[in-house]
Amino acid sequence: MDAAVSVSMTSGAVAERDDAHVWHPWSPVGPSSGLMIARAEGYRLWDVDGREYVDGASGAMNCSCGHGRAELVAAVGDQLRTLAHVDLSFGAHEPSGRLAERLAGLLGHGLTRTFFANSGSEGIEAACRIALNHWSNRGEPRHRIVSFERGYHGSTALCQSLSGLPAALPDLPSAVPVARVALTDEPRALTDPAACDRLLGAWERALDEPGAGEVAAVVVEPLLNAGGGVVFHPSFLAGLRRLCDERGVLLVVDEVFTGFGRTGEMFGFRHSGITPDVVVMSKGITSGYVPLSAVTTTDEVYRGFASDPVYGGLRYGHTTSGHAAACAVALATLDVIERDELVANARDRGAELLRGLGGLAGHAGVVDVRGLGLTVVVECSSAGTAARLREEIGRHGVLLRQQMSSLLAVPPLVIDAAGVRELTSRVLGAFAVAGGHAG
Ligand SMILES: Cc1ncc(COP(=O)(O)O)c(C=O)c1O
Repeated sequence: MDAAVSVSMTSGAVAERDDAHVWHPWSPVGPSSGLMIARAEGYRLWDVDGREYVDGASGAMNCSCGHGRAELVAAVGDQLRTLAHVDLSFGAHEPSGRLAERLAGLLGHGLTRTFFANSGSEGIEAACRIALNHWSNRGEPRHRIVSFERGYHGSTALCQSLSGLPAALPDLPSAVPVARVALTDEPRALTDPAACDRLLGAWERALDEPGAGEVAAVVVEPLLNAGGGVVFHPSFLAGLRRLCDERGVLLVVDEVFTGFGRTGEMFGFRHSGITPDVVVMSKGITSGYVPLSAVTTTDEVYRGFASDPVYGGLRYGHTTSGHAAACAVALATLDVIERDELVANARDRGAELLRGLGGLAGHAGVVDVRGLGLTVVVECSSAGTAARLREEIGRHGVLLRQQMSSLLAVPPLVIDAAGVRELTSRVLGAFAVAGGHAG
């Protein structure tokens, strides 16, 4: 039994050890949050004191197939017993080939060539490098990248420079010029096509900014996750695809959060009926059981790298790029998603959850409730209000994800109707206790 699950371990002792030795990412220096999770199953979690929670955050927004899936655990063990890994810079193994082939089949439309890394950040870093080198390989260098001010694409130096979010503010100069487009309307307006037209106008101005240099790539999420759960009308991404086509700019779609069913489609860009030039995937690709990311593009982009002056190929990679065990888990994850029809479940359960939480729109301290698939967003009047409500919701046995002033309910895609009812009634109970003093 893992030490964290040991029945003799008290929450006090776990917290003490954590406080003494663990440096938590994206967290203030100081005592740990006090949330010590010991075990999980399906869409439920238990802390070290045995308190039970509905996991409305899917672990790290990645546990789409639910916790404790025997087939995913077996995929790791089976693969490790057969072969842990071969460095893909000088060899190959079957799981990475099978996964790349499977992704090509899922993505379609000529997206056939996959590069593997370990995290979402590394995937985005690779995608930017691919896009920039694509242009230099053609002898037509383009250096600029355009992204959303409220987008989030990871925490490497290059990824952080793509974001203007206060929490991700880069502390290093950007390696390439980046233009960041601010939202033209409040997030709650952006499900409306007219607001998306205004937003596209801002993108057009950023793409054509005089004297700023040619744009190599646009990097966008189909739904802004860390930026506060911003849901766009499908016309937005369709319009952005058109703007990129008119200028020959590569469209890189960040599916790290949205990929593999989260929005009620296998990929978030499917809502807009478009095909990106590069797709970056992570999180749900292994249901969060092991780290993996994938960057898929066209064979045309790939073949262009033959003219790279050093390798005649991509000058980027990691020791564990395409780790065999991670690829094996991803294949098992895709089996579960397809066999259990989790994309359809995300759509149906998401609609129920949005209906259930929709009434909160009239609550003091709530400015909007919106959603797409199994991503339901309760936008609060401030980040402080969201934090207070999240704590109360936690006391009622539900863990939600806070993104700026929004609370995101993003449970595992395996949640059933009873689970949605339970999550909803616990959250409504917490709001009833929070009452009028939430704002
Ligand atoms: C949309 C998006 N892109 C990129 C990332 C970065 O992924 P990672 O934390 O695995 O580096 C995240 C992480 O939350 C994300 O939500």
